[in-house]
Amino acid sequence: MQKELTPWSGADSLDYQQIVSEFGIEPIEPLAEDLPEVPYFVRRGIVIGHRDYGSIVNAIRNRQRFYVMTGFMPSGHPHLGHLMVMREVVWHVQQGAEGYIAIADREAHAVRGTSWEACDAFGREYLQCLYALGFRGKTYFQSRNDRLKDLAFESATKVNFSDLAAIYGFGQDTSLAHAMSVITQVADILFPQIDGGPAPTVVPVGLDQDPHLRLTRDVAHKLRMFTVEDRREYISARSKNAPGEALFEIEKTFPRSRRYEGHVDIYGESFGRVQEAVRRIELRYGGFGFYTPSSTYHTFMPGLLGGKMSSSVPESLFTFQEADAEVRKKIMGALTGGRATVEEQRQLGGEPERCPVFQLYRFHMIPEDRELEEICRACRAGERLCGICKKEAYERVKAFLADLRERMAEVEHLVEEAA
Ligand code: TRP
Ligand code: SF4
Repeated sequence: MQKELTPWSGADSLDYQQIVSEFGIEPIEPLAEDLPEVPYFVRRGIVIGHRDYGSIVNAIRNRQRFYVMTGFMPSGHPHLGHLMVMREVVWHVQQGAEGYIAIADREAHAVRGTSWEACDAFGREYLQCLYALGFRGKTYFQSRNDRLKDLAFESATKVNFSDLAAIYGFGQDTSLAHAMSVITQVADILFPQIDGGPAPTVVPVGLDQDPHLRLTRDVAHKLRMFTVEDRREYISARSKNAPGEALFEIEKTFPRSRRYEGHVDIYGESFGRVQEAVRRIELRYGGFGFYTPSSTYHTFMPGLLGGKMSSSVPESLFTFQEADAEVRKKIMGALTGGRATVEEQRQLGGEPERCPVFQLYRFHMIPEDRELEEICRACRAGERLCGICKKEAYERVKAFLADLRERMAEVEHLVEEAA
């Protein structure tokens, strides 16, 4: 049987490489070389895959408009497991993206049964963390965004129940609200383009969220009035559901073109120029002109006890507001890649790749690659022992949290303005 990847099953047991090849996600490394600055999460193999990230690399390089958008489900406090996506969003904003954050309160309410009051309180915490980490841009709660709901409804005209069954394994007993939260996420991903106009959009997510992206890319394509294709000798603009006049207008825009029933063939023009012109015409006739959204995929940091990091296992993670003593206890109690005895460890060395403490360093606590490499080397060589290593990890986390909390207090007003 084929392994199923749904946003609700967790991807911990799935082999990343297999997912990448099976679902058509491309490895990100070859593309990243063209970035003006390769972020640590790509250098360290944390973000490993993408769809259509090339258009984002181009936008960064050429300083063209693009969006970064992602969403957070406010079913609990933001915690260590959310930090990666937050940092990816902030990085893209720093590279020139216009940022958008959805607080997925409809999803939390539909899928987790979180009360609206709790959604509101948790949602604000997420936003505060994001601003504290350097996010700037637009934010909204799904339940209070009417244009989003309209876009979700329009998107729903392009999705049927067998699509949902095939993509998410939805069945007879799936609640309608769950299906509505799925289509709301589709709308989240397309929302920047109706708010600020068509432009490439990157959605940084964990691999588990890819089904949403596949669905959204399909919907974005279906909501277009035209399909523009490069046929080498000419460029074809084919109408899917465009009004007849729009077809005339394309013909008028390009003197060297020929109009047929349902399509126009354009000669002697660049693909990019035709795409842009068709998009503008589409917008004039009430269409969306969407760019198909891009995405990046990160792997998951293991929980502090090994295995999956999950809010249902409180020892597997810490939240950003947790008391220092609690955080300390969790880190000191973490699983390591160490050996049974000190002698053995001195002899054989530790196993950092299997060590949650090392992964904490690698994902979040050590910005310098050299320093991380040195810890890795010393661990493997048996020069570094777990007790000290965990204490150092805790000291770093403590400093990080103190700084984050201070910043969170400073940006509280930004959340008030947004929510
Ligand atoms: N479904 C996502 C989660 O489980 C949250 C989410 C909502 C999201 N809207 C989104 C993610 C848009 C990316 C893009 O956490
Ligand atoms: Fe992990 Fe540090 Fe122990 Fe190595 S020394 S196994 S990195 S805790």
